[in-house]
Order: sequence, then C-alpha cells, then structure tokens
Amino acid sequence: MAEANAVSESSSDPFNVAYWQKRWEENQIGFHRTQINPFLLKHIELVTGQKLTAEPIGDTDKFLENSKKTWFVPLCGKTMDIPYLLSQGFRVFGLEAAKLAIEALDQEHSLCLVYNEETKLFTGADGLLQIYMGDLFTCPIEKFGPFDYVWDRGSFVALEYPFRSSYIELMQRALKKSDGSWYDFKYLMDSVQYDKSKYGGPPRSVDDIDIDEFYKPWSSVQLVETEALPEDNRVAKLVGGEVLCRIYFITPPK
Ligand SMILES: C[S@@+](CC[C@H](N)C(=O)[O-])C[C@H]1O[C@@H](n2cnc3c(N)ncnc32)[C@H](O)[C@@H]1O
Repeated sequence: MAEANAVSESSSDPFNVAYWQKRWEENQIGFHRTQINPFLLKHIELVTGQKLTAEPIGDTDKFLENSKKTWFVPLCGKTMDIPYLLSQGFRVFGLEAAKLAIEALDQEHSLCLVYNEETKLFTGADGLLQIYMGDLFTCPIEKFGPFDYVWDRGSFVALEYPFRSSYIELMQRALKKSDGSWYDFKYLMDSVQYDKSKYGGPPRSVDDIDIDEFYKPWSSVQLVETEALPEDNRVAKLVGGEVLCRIYFITPPK
C-alpha cells in the first residue's frame, strides 16, 4: 500500500524535497502528531540528565541553564516537540524543506519567526529557536553545530533507503567539533521496524542490520525501548503486519 495516494516519489527529485513539499500543500501529513511525543517525554531524562514533565519549566535558573544546550531536530515538520523543548528552556535548531510546515509551526504556536533569505534561517523573537529552511543534503550543518542533543522522529525513517549514508554523513558533521573529534552529543531516535517486503515506506524500517551498518561504526548505540504498534495504528495499517516502534539512544564512540 502506498502512503498519501496523490503524491508519489520521483527519480527526477533526487532527495524527494518536491514530494514532501507537495504533501504539505495537499495536507497529507498523517505523520504529524498533535501531542508531545510520549517517547521524548519518557526518555528526556536519559538525554538531559533532568526529570522534566510535559509542563513548561517553572524554575528560572533551570530555564536559563537549559538555554546553554541546543537540540537539533532534523526534518522537523511542525512537530509539537519544538514548542515543548522551548518550554523547557532549551535552544532548538530545526531543519525543514517545506516552507508551509515552518509557517504552520510559527502560526500555531505564535513563535513570531523572522526569515533571513541570506542565511535561510527562521529565527524566533528570543533567539532560542532557529529553523534552517532547505534541503537536508545541501545544508552546511557544521556551521550551526555541534549540537548537544538530537531528537530524530520521522527523520531517518522518512528517507529513501539509498539516502541513508548521506544522512549519516550530515549527522556526523552536525556532531563533530571543528578539530574533527566527537562532541559530547546525546541523540535519541524514534524508529520503526517491520518486514521490508511488506511495505516500501515512508516511514522506512530500521532493523538490527541497519543499526550495525549506519550507526554502530561511529557511535555507541543502546536500544532503550521496543513497543509493538496497535493494529489500528496508521503505520501498522500501511505495513499490513507487525510494526515495532524502537527507540535508540546514541552517544559518541567509547
Ligand atoms: C515524516 S515527516 C516528519 C516531521 C516531524 N519530524 C514529525 O515528527 O512530525 C518528514 C519531514 O521532513 C521534511 N523533509 C523530507 N525530506 C527533506 C529534505 N531532503 N530536506 C529537508 N526536509 C525534508 C518533510 O517536509 C517533512 O516535514
């Protein structure tokens, strides 16, 4: 079964930016969640070392302390997780090709974003949020990092299988210091795993072999949660079989 019937991926659009832009234009955004991601809430302590709730942080000192840390949210769409992370005091650097998604995020959360055509950056009034508008694969990400934390939901799994090594190359540039050594990053990834012969994606399956090939050669990887999606879940219906939601915690190599 193909997702988003009217829009299809095309070989003339190498990184599928036009495909995703059309999905936003046609409001085919079944991936968007209207709640803060429960796995982010559950594992944010592992990443940040702090017990944080869904409520905005009340303690001004903690808010100010958190503003020294930046979350990279690749392929961010208009995720609710961005206003959530901002409400905890963190800086957020988003990356998204679809202008419509960024404008919707701005309007829905009154972020007052201002766009700079030269830098391709949308910036919030308090400077805590920046979103680079453009293609992931041409973004000079090393100019904006290295990042303390990464929240990858609907990002690695959104890409076509042949683009995965380019994505990993970008992530490495985002997480290395200018001298080429690893920054002390903490990276949380929400992925799905299913029988690839049943469905072509998106979202695309991430199995143990993929983790061995793409993440383990350059990082320490811990599987922190596995949960089977209910049969009536959107992705389980697309796949037509069992789908496991798997959460990985990724840190620099030991
Ligand atoms: C599956 S959605 C996930 C959005 C968000 N992370 C969430 O959880 O709701 C993937 C997003 O990546 C964007 N995208 C896809 N390919 C991209 C690319 N090559 N460069 C930048 N953004 C891209 C799409 O426009 C879309 O908003």
